[in-house]
Amino acid sequence: MRKLISEELCIPWNEVHLQRTSKGKPFLANNLLSINSNFNFNVSHQGDYAVLAAEPELQVGIDIMKTDLPGSSSIPNFFHIMKRQFTETEWDVIKSMSNEWMQLAMFYRHWALKESFLKAIGVGIGFNLQRIEFNVSPLQLEIGKVYKETKMLLDGEKEEEWTFEETRLDEHHHVAVALGKQEGFVQKDSDVHSMEPNQLQFTILTFEDLVASGIPVTPEDSAYWDNFCSKQEGPMRQSSHLR
Ligand SMILES: CC(C)(COP(=O)(O)OP(=O)(O)OC[C@H]1O[C@@H](n2cnc3c(N)ncnc32)[C@H](O)[C@@H]1OP(=O)(O)O)[C@@H](O)C(=O)NCCC(=O)NCCS
Repeated sequence: MRKLISEELCIPWNEVHLQRTSKGKPFLANNLLSINSNFNFNVSHQGDYAVLAAEPELQVGIDIMKTDLPGSSSIPNFFHIMKRQFTETEWDVIKSMSNEWMQLAMFYRHWALKESFLKAIGVGIGFNLQRIEFNVSPLQLEIGKVYKETKMLLDGEKEEEWTFEETRLDEHHHVAVALGKQEGFVQKDSDVHSMEPNQLQFTILTFEDLVASGIPVTPEDSAYWDNFCSKQEGPMRQSSHLR
């Protein structure tokens, strides 16, 4: 977030003031020129990636989901437990896929779409997920391409003001980016519908790339670092090795 903000808005790395809304969504608290007043961003981390999307004008939310076997139950049982997260129509699409693994991938694709919208509006948990329904299109996504055909219904009405960009980063990771109008703002020159189709939008950055231009925001503390390095890696979930 710091790298993005310092590069895009020319704010020195160590002068970037990040705060969170009461629901936990990080935002930039620096005083901005009016030209940048709608600038916003969102991050998601799951599986093997952390992803970030940012927008000069539209409201943005991002979510990444890794298709992983459920830890302690079969896929049909997992779907049964998750029944209320999706509408009947969404379940019909999920279950229409030809095998359980593809059903799971479609499940996580829908999940990423719902989360991306919830994260764009910043509501966190507690939103009635039955109010939003996705009509996904196309059913198959090629790895690395960006798709914008999927539509959302809110309370049964098609939401034309929101666009959803979907990408499969690799075999297992789906990313959804929700883009909508910020309340009370007049759209200027960037128009979400005018982007080139299939424009490749994610750039892979290594940890070194991320921190190369970093400036410490607190005095360096070698004891803190030694303590961090002495911690064990988190235990791996067994299920992630099954496929
Ligand atoms: C934070 C939340 C919005 C999403 O969490 P998540 O999907 O588990 O995690 P992600 O990796 O995608 O996103 C986490 C990041 O989103 C950002 N974030 C935190 N709260 C947020 C909010 N209210 N709105 C938008 N972004 C938020 C933060 O940057 C956070 O990373 P950080 O904690 O390292 O700073 C959380 O409120 C949540 O779990 N919502 C679940 C809602 C639900 O029921 N979804 C079911 C969909 S089918």
